[in-house]
Parts: sequence; structure tokens; C-alpha cells
Amino acid sequence: MFARRIVVVGTGYVGLTTGACLASLGHRVVCSDVDAAKVARLSRGEVGILEPGLGELVAEGIAAGRLEFVLGSAGAVADAEVVFLCVPTPMGSGGGADLAAVESVVAEVATELPAGCVLVCKSTVPVGTSARVAELVGRPDVAVVSNPEFLREGSAVHDFLNPDRIVVGSASQDAAERVAALYARLGAPTVLTDAPSAEMVKYAANCFLATKLSYVNAVAELCERLGANISDVTEGMGYDRRIGQSFLQPGPGWGGSCLPKDTAALLQVAQSVGFDFELLGAAIDSNARQREQMVAKVADACGVGVAGSLDGVRLGLLGLTFKAGTDDLRDSPALAVAELLAARGAELVACDPGLRGDEAPLRDVVTLVDDPYEAAKGSAGLVVLTEWQQFRALDWPRVAGLLAGPVVVDTRNHLDPDVLRRAGISWRGVGRLP
Ligand code: UGA
Repeated sequence: MFARRIVVVGTGYVGLTTGACLASLGHRVVCSDVDAAKVARLSRGEVGILEPGLGELVAEGIAAGRLEFVLGSAGAVADAEVVFLCVPTPMGSGGGADLAAVESVVAEVATELPAGCVLVCKSTVPVGTSARVAELVGRPDVAVVSNPEFLREGSAVHDFLNPDRIVVGSASQDAAERVAALYARLGAPTVLTDAPSAEMVKYAANCFLATKLSYVNAVAELCERLGANISDVTEGMGYDRRIGQSFLQPGPGWGGSCLPKDTAALLQVAQSVGFDFELLGAAIDSNARQREQMVAKVADACGVGVAGSLDGVRLGLLGLTFKAGTDDLRDSPALAVAELLAARGAELVACDPGLRGDEAPLRDVVTLVDDPYEAAKGSAGLVVLTEWQQFRALDWPRVAGLLAGPVVVDTRNHLDPDVLRRAGISWRGVGRLP
């Protein structure tokens, strides 16, 4: 396999990870962005996001002369063999994906792309977008390929370099094979297909994962009411290889920058072709209810009843990011629960290892502190909302001494109930009795 001259347009999570990882596989990669300050920062090796291993890969790529960052894409693509579009596709009005950034980049680079170049859509885009991009480019000598990305925030580099599969779709078999060859060293199963199918794989996978979690959260609720233990139930389910052990952990609902956006987008696309995707709609609604369930659980644990007022009740929150290992608050279920608690009148003091005390969007909802013991001090209870490892290692007898009310609501079943019990704290989890 020969090293390729690759341009990655957009240096968000997906673009930056793609660029740094492709450089680490030996390719020569130029990453472009419209944000001059970001380009300058990245050129100095400062990645600015919490993503294990990414800073090191970027630094290595720069030092080896295989990775560089430039402002604007038009000039960058001139000698490219493959151009990856990794620009954001946020939720637009009506729930569909907003393709403005994709369209604007295509308009900018269309005439600059060298003959024989392959344009790859890596951003999550609705089925049919690659065909639309090909139409916008309007050049028979440039092939368009869909190559969705399946990395998770917090383990993006690991996921990129250890993929479960590579999916590549195009009307041009040759272009699809050239893109697949970029990943040859990774030795992953590769699905070569047409562009609409590749685009659909991404949505179908994310929506399946979201539905799986809504199902698990509903089963957890049922376990709680029937006296069963969700941890044992999911373990028992997960040994069935058709189900698998992963993505079975109940929690305050699923969130982040992908699952909420992609579920809304697929639902909207289904509606647009006259298909009522009831199952997916139910998974989304059930996820919204899950957050309310957690608030009711906290109110109940505080002794005011599930619907009671929390006016003036001080609560400590452990975690606000949408999952552990990231500093990302986008569509965070933890933050949504905090907002619902604040709306009930609770005074919230939160600690999250991924966040600093000066996070502006949080100021109206919570007081952010760096020390979890500070969050516990004088609080009527603690609520675990994100599964950071640090929280398991707290000195629980010390926490018990600081709390005004010795109760912990663990929305992730993250803590060891026996450790808390020994410290004199009453533990309330999800889908299992204390
Ligand atoms: C998700 C997918 O997992 C990736 O495969 C995909 O590439 C990515 O979206 C994307 O489209 O870019 P990510 O958003 O990073 O990745 O987060 P996940 O690890 O999937 O977690 C999503 C949510 O589900 C989080 O709120 C998490 O806490 C929750 N979750 C996850 C659970 O509540 N229980 C679980 O067992 C797993």
C-alpha cells in the first residue's frame, strides 16, 4: 500500500481524528479548517479537546512531516488524491441534518479538485447526500464516496485504529477500492457497497444503539418495579451472542452529539418518504421520559415524593458531561437532569473531572466546583450522573460526614452499593433494589 496525499476538510472530532490517524498509518495528510485561530493552535500541536492519545498522534504527525494544518480548503485540495469531508451536519429545523457546511465546502473545492481525485463524505449525512454532492461537483473525473465513521468520543483514536468494520460506498467501484485501501493496514472487515447503503449503515447503526439503550432503560424500570436486578438481567441477556454484553448499561438516558441528532434525522427522513418509523419515535420519547424518571427518583430519595418540590434543597451532582472521558456537554442527559432539578427549585453544586469551574453555559443551572467533596458538603444528597472512574474511588466515609442527608442516587449504577452501605450511606440505583 502506497502513502496517499490526503486532505481532510474540517478539524472537529471526526476530522482531526481521521487526519491524525491516517497520518499515523503513513499517509501525508493536510487538515484544513475555516477557523484561523484553531489552525494556528493545531499547528502548534494543541488539540484543545479531551481525547486520549490524540494530542500525541497530532504531535508525532507534525514532527514526522506527515501532518499539517492550513486555513481554507480551496488551496489545500489542489494536489490531493483523496479529500475527506468532515464538516459538521448539525440538527436543522424539523430534525433533519443541516447540510449547509457540506454544500459550502463542495462549492469552494469543486473546480479546484485535480482530475482523478476521490471526494469522500465522512460527515454523517442523509441517504442520498453523496449523489447530491456528485451532482454539485458536476465532474465525471471526480468520484464521490461515502465512508461513514463509527468512532466514539473518549476513545476516538482507539476506535479509528481498531475498527469493527470499514464501510465504503460509491457508484465507482475503483474509487471505493481506493478509499478502502487507505485502511488496509488495519485489517478490518470491509463492506464495499453503493453510496446510499453506506450512508444508511451509519444511521441504522446509531439508531439501533439508541433503541437498544431505550429498551434497556425500560427493562430497568420494570426490574425495579418487579424486584429484579438489571445488572444480573443484562449480564444474563448479554451472554447471548446475538445480543452481546456491550451497550446494555442503564442510565439517565442516551445523549451526546450523535445519537440524538441521528435518531431525529432518520425519523424525519422516514416521515419524508411516508414511513412512520414508530419504533424509533418510541425510543426517542422513552429517552426523554428517562430523564424525568431520574428527577422523580431524586425527589423521592430526598423524601419530598416523586412529584414534590425541591425548593431550596441543596444537591451535589457528580458528573455533567454526556458520558465519562469527555468534556462534551452537547445533548448531555446529565445536564438535562440538572436543568430539570433546577426547575424544581433545587440548588445544585456539581463536579465533573472533564470540566472547569468557568463553564459559561452552566452558570444558571449549577455551581461548578473542582472538588467532589465540595459538592457533597451540606447537600441533602448526591446524584451520580456521569460514570467517571474517579467517583468510585472517593473516600465514602468522608463523604458521609460531609453530607447533610446520607443518600446517593446513582443513575448509572456506577458505585459499589456495599461500600456506600458500610459508610452509612443509603444507595439508590437504577433497575435494582438497594
Ligand atoms: C456514538 C456511537 O457509539 C459511535 O459508534 C458513533 O460513531 C458516534 O456516536 C457518532 O455517530 O459519531 P458517542 O456519541 O461518542 O458515539 O457516544 P456513545 O459511547 O455511543 O454513548 C452515547 C450515549 O449513550 C451516552 O450518553 C452514554 O452515556 C450512553 N450509554 C452508552 C449508556 O447509557 N449506556 C451504555 O451502555 C452505553
